[in-house]
Amino acid sequence: MTEQKATNITWHAGEIGKEEREKFLGQKGVVIWFTGLSGSGKSTLAHAVEKRLFENGNLCYVLDGDNIRHGLNKNLGFSPADRMENIRRIGEVARLFADAGVIAMTAFISPYRADRLTARELLPVGDFIEVYAKVPLDVAEKRDPKGLYKKARAGEIKEFTGISAPYEEPENPEIVVDTSELSIEKSVDAVIDYLRTAGIISED
Ligand code: ADX
Repeated sequence: MTEQKATNITWHAGEIGKEEREKFLGQKGVVIWFTGLSGSGKSTLAHAVEKRLFENGNLCYVLDGDNIRHGLNKNLGFSPADRMENIRRIGEVARLFADAGVIAMTAFISPYRADRLTARELLPVGDFIEVYAKVPLDVAEKRDPKGLYKKARAGEIKEFTGISAPYEEPENPEIVVDTSELSIEKSVDAVIDYLRTAGIISED
């Protein structure tokens, strides 16, 4: 648990609630949490889902690890404690987006089960959808889109997920997509089907 330092603060609820915003937008505000190794395709998938949702008339937003680490989380590295803080902040930001009625998608390795659970527990049951971008390590390593696995193997990057730092697989994710077997289109279909069935976006 992160300690709260501020005292003398009071929660201020506005007059317009999440439900009103959801009605306005014609969708449910939720968090779709993509997790997986570097090179698993989670960012690609999140952006492809975003495109499909946008074309369907849904408002969504992707929070992407590499991008957020340029700004909000630029003071964090890759130690377990920094990754925990990275995920804690993103969990909170994603919750705000969901409260705004937006379909928030996060694409972070988020290697620790406990950290993902912390993010999950910020939301009501059903509003946090964990998508495991599953891919064998050797496939991710072969893809190596940023050349980082090569550097990690050479010892040039410390604590690299999958090589010298752990990745804890999700135990009960809402959706699993094996991006080494499924095309991007089929992977997007799996996510969209889930959202329709769960009533997060409308059927038509
Ligand atoms: S997380 O573990 O804290 O969730 P996050 O998704 O924000 O990680 O950032 C991962 C990205 O940072 C990778 O896709 C890769 O581009 C880069 N990166 C740099 N160093 C590391 C490292 N040691 N382990 C994993 N990813 C790293």
